[in-house]
Amino acid sequence: QESEASRYKRMAAERAVELIQSGTVVGLGSGSTSALVVHRLAALLGEGKLKDVVGVPTSLETESLARSLGVPLTTLEEHPFLALTIDGADEVDPALNLIKGGGGALLREKIVAQASQREIIVVDESKLSPQLGTRWPVPVEVLPFGWNSQALYLEGLGARVVRREAHDGAPYRTDQGNFILDCAFGPIARPAELAAKLEARAGVVEHGLFIGITSELIIAGPKGVEHRRP
Ligand code: A5P
Repeated sequence: QESEASRYKRMAAERAVELIQSGTVVGLGSGSTSALVVHRLAALLGEGKLKDVVGVPTSLETESLARSLGVPLTTLEEHPFLALTIDGADEVDPALNLIKGGGGALLREKIVAQASQREIIVVDESKLSPQLGTRWPVPVEVLPFGWNSQALYLEGLGARVVRREAHDGAPYRTDQGNFILDCAFGPIARPAELAAKLEARAGVVEHGLFIGITSELIIAGPKGVEHRRP
């Protein structure tokens, strides 16, 4: 039985896949909503309704899902500019700024997003938030070298910091082998200023604040699917 949240995610994912045209290279996001995008894309390719679509995955997990479903893949090295990427998000504010990285894939997701002409974000309506930080901590990817210094720096910025753990209790490692520090700032009044402070710090590889990156948001909820632009 599909839960309500899963149904909304699927509705948003299916609408987003309608934006994909045959003969294009698309960025494939990470997380459960993006997985539904990959499933839908695979189905349309299988039925011949889409042809010659090649994906650039934003995580090893998406890469293996796409491979298992027979979606052809390429790399960003091969195709450094993408017309379209479809990805999920953890939290979305009214200006369509995002927190991402709940799944730990924020670095590749941001690299692919910045290489894309259109970044389409697909969410169920539970992701909408009046202010970033209200629902979700900001994931910050840091080098293992000296990571605790970055934790202190982040605490100095007002965050409660937790190093993410894997299921076995060992530190979680990103696809690049780095750590994630989940930083609960509470509601963030000026996310762009916080992003600049995070980017100023050596040892911080990337963070999950996606400011001014969303081109379009596709939200699904009890009233159906809505398509928003910033
Ligand atoms: C992955 O690193 C994240 O940025 C995901 O895009 C985000 O966690 C959304 O995941 P769901 O679609 O599973 O909610």
